Amino acid sequence: MIMSDRLRIAVLCSGRGSNLQAMIDAIVSCRLSAEIAVVISNKADAPALERARKHDIDAVFVDPKAHRGKEAYDKACLEVLESFGVELVVLAGYMRLLTAVLVAPYRGRIINIHPSLLPAFPGLNAQRQALEYGVKVSGCTVHFVDEQMDHGPIITQATVPVLQDDTEAVLSDRILKEEHHLLVNAIEDFAKGKLKMLGRRVEIQRSS
Ligand code: GRF
Repeated sequence: MIMSDRLRIAVLCSGRGSNLQAMIDAIVSCRLSAEIAVVISNKADAPALERARKHDIDAVFVDPKAHRGKEAYDKACLEVLESFGVELVVLAGYMRLLTAVLVAPYRGRIINIHPSLLPAFPGLNAQRQALEYGVKVSGCTVHFVDEQMDHGPIITQATVPVLQDDTEAVLSDRILKEEHHLLVNAIEDFAKGKLKMLGRRVEIQRSS
């Protein structure tokens, strides 16, 4: 039986895991009242899995090759989520599109962080897309997840300037720093029951 009054989170990652690390750090320093129950990756060698293990967090590799098709893969992930009693799923650099198999049972309880001001520049290489388009302001978005890519209701966004001499790496770094705060704050708001979804609009109840 799971004995905890803190929100139980699963973090799904495919790579580096700096957003995962920001969540871990925020929990350790009591800025986030939640618990990372499990980290799941579709990549056996994802550094995110290593970060989790270093902090004694269960880290599970779900092998795409061991499952036939996207639905079967998501069913395997769903079983992991359920076995860990997960209440909120956080996609942080997770490079797979979720199917209804996963989205339906967790609707309104899956969030994603994306490095652009959605709906601009969804998909891969959002920072490069922003540079190539020539925008002067970009940023990051935390949103609820639906079955479409980078599409669900927006919870919160942060802006960063795009400067004249920016390379993709420099702009990505500037955005990433904002991502770490934005994601932690959004999870804390979720944990405190402050988020209310009204169709595409998400209201954040502010403390008076
Ligand atoms: C972040 O830029 C995130 O917005 C995007 O993928 C990147 C993941 O970085 N979805 P990390 O693995 O959290 O360091």
